[in-house]
Amino acid sequence: MADLEIRNLHVSAEDKQILKGLDLDVSKGEVHALMGPNGSGKSTLANAIMGHPSLEVTEGEVHLLGEDVTETAPEERARAGLFMAFQYPVAIPGVTVAKYLRMAVNAHREARGESEIKLKEFRKVTEAAMELMDIPREFSSRYLNDGFSGGEKKRMEILQLAMLQPQLAVLDETDSGLDIDALRTVAEGVNRLAGPQMGVLIITHYQRILHLVKPDFVHVMYEGRIVKQGGPELVELLEERGYGWIGEEVEAAAA
Ligand SMILES: Nc1ncnc2c1ncn2[C@@H]1O[C@H](COP(=O)(O)OP(=O)(O)OP(=O)(O)O)[C@@H](O)[C@H]1O
Ligand SMILES: [Mg+2]
Repeated sequence: MADLEIRNLHVSAEDKQILKGLDLDVSKGEVHALMGPNGSGKSTLANAIMGHPSLEVTEGEVHLLGEDVTETAPEERARAGLFMAFQYPVAIPGVTVAKYLRMAVNAHREARGESEIKLKEFRKVTEAAMELMDIPREFSSRYLNDGFSGGEKKRMEILQLAMLQPQLAVLDETDSGLDIDALRTVAEGVNRLAGPQMGVLIITHYQRILHLVKPDFVHVMYEGRIVKQGGPELVELLEERGYGWIGEEVEAAAA
């Protein structure tokens, strides 16, 4: 059984059906890329994996590390080792980066039955992660994402990824809005963290991040389903030909 196993997932939001029978397997040690046109349901899938309360699962299942989490709360999934970097990270005024990271790290430790992280160790881990992500130290005392530039927010998400060391990470358009240097930093961060202990699902529109973080598997989403799967060669094909032919193939198959 895959570490993240999605079967026949149907999801709706405000009575609109968005995911229409989606299957996906992601295991630790694998990097998956999810592509597809605007509005095909990629972010909805990410939110459904995380258990977003505004979504309703009308059919199908999500299994995480062997457990059925279809009906569980986001906190529980996070504790089970799921991490999500959002397409639009939210600002948390009043909570500093350092405080937020410490809360997040301690929540994970508590879930594993470990004691709270010692301040000295926390500082050490944070400094190492910030250096890895090229984030200036003074960011520790700023309010999370408040007034951060787009690129800073994205780097901050990978910083959290580095500190939490989840078993499965879903990165929704972590590459959008990044300049070339920031993109490289984020990609290096992901590459450094990806390995036998972590599975990654990268949602993206562009091949440039997929040149830096090589996916083992590429999935294409179209109107709420994964309609095509392959290896890295699929990325180039999409870049060349766009998504029109995918739609034509799907319609021809349905006719
Ligand atoms: N909470 C919601 N209520 C109503 N409709 C929603 C909701 N969330 C998503 N949708 C709709 O579902 C469809 C899929 O949206 P989603 O954000 O998953 O697409 P996406 O593939 O991530 O697109 P993009 O590439 O633009 O990020 C869209 O038509 C969107 O308007
Ligand atoms: Mg999206």
